[in-house]
Amino acid sequence: MTTTGSRHGLVLDRVRLTYPDGAARLTALDGVSMVVPPGTTTALLGPSGSGKSSLLAVAATLTVPDAGRVVVGGLEVAADGGALPPGRRAELRRTRIGIVFQQHRLLPSLTALEQLTLVAHLQGRRPRTAERRARELLATVGLADEADRRPQTLSGGQRQRVNIARALVNEPDVLLVDEPTSALDHERGEQVVELVTSLTRATGAATLLVSHDASTLGTVDAVARISGGRVLGAPGPALPAPAASAPAGPARRGSARCG
Ligand SMILES: Nc1ncnc2c1ncn2[C@@H]1O[C@H](COP(=O)(O)OP(=O)(O)OP(=O)(O)O)[C@@H](O)[C@H]1O
Ligand SMILES: [Mg+2]
Repeated sequence: MTTTGSRHGLVLDRVRLTYPDGAARLTALDGVSMVVPPGTTTALLGPSGSGKSSLLAVAATLTVPDAGRVVVGGLEVAADGGALPPGRRAELRRTRIGIVFQQHRLLPSLTALEQLTLVAHLQGRRPRTAERRARELLATVGLADEADRRPQTLSGGQRQRVNIARALVNEPDVLLVDEPTSALDHERGEQVVELVTSLTRATGAATLLVSHDASTLGTVDAVARISGGRVLGAPGPALPAPAASAPAGPARRGSARCG
């Protein structure tokens, strides 16, 4: 595993992922290559079962692919069926990756401000620094006046904005957003995508945003269409040359532990 610097965005190179399926294997990702440069948003658009959430899980380091390379912020997190150890990947998710799940997963008993300061505390930030950062982010997503409200008193769109702000507390290199608009009407869905796009430009994160609704994607930088585990016409600039040490051929487990 190598480090090649920070703010390199997200690189997926010939990623293959299968799941057990009775006696056989189901191919969820079939040689997916994609580059998301820092400060840009790529939307991932495809029908149900096409592999969108699987791709996000791989980029999030939650799932180790059978083959191919995954590079997050210049750090190679998976290659040739091996991966960084689970503890290192968990640390990476805490410090370098922001994840917005489809279900907001806000804690009911915490205010909007506390949802964010909790994350900052977990990262070891001092309380005053944590609160300043949290208030800044809430203001950025237009919720300065809602800081003391709990999730059940916020609208669906407001909750989604808290959810997005929370994913940015750790100033991630890579922001992964799963179906942020599915519970919202068209106009609010479009606003959420626009917010993600502008925050991405402002923070320099590399953002991959899953959507089923092409009509909300007017502000993104690129759209990758996925079907049957394959990305059709990969967006973004040309892929960097594959590492000389990466052997081609069938999937194999590397020496690093996988989980
Ligand atoms: N844990 C799992 N075990 C076995 N098969 C799985 C698992 N997760 C997903 N699959 C299968 O992998 C394929 C891709 O699933 P995935 O969840 O990535 O699709 P998706 O594009 O996110 O779909 P949706 O739009 O419905 O959320 C599907 O055929 C699905 O049934
Ligand atoms: Mg999904």
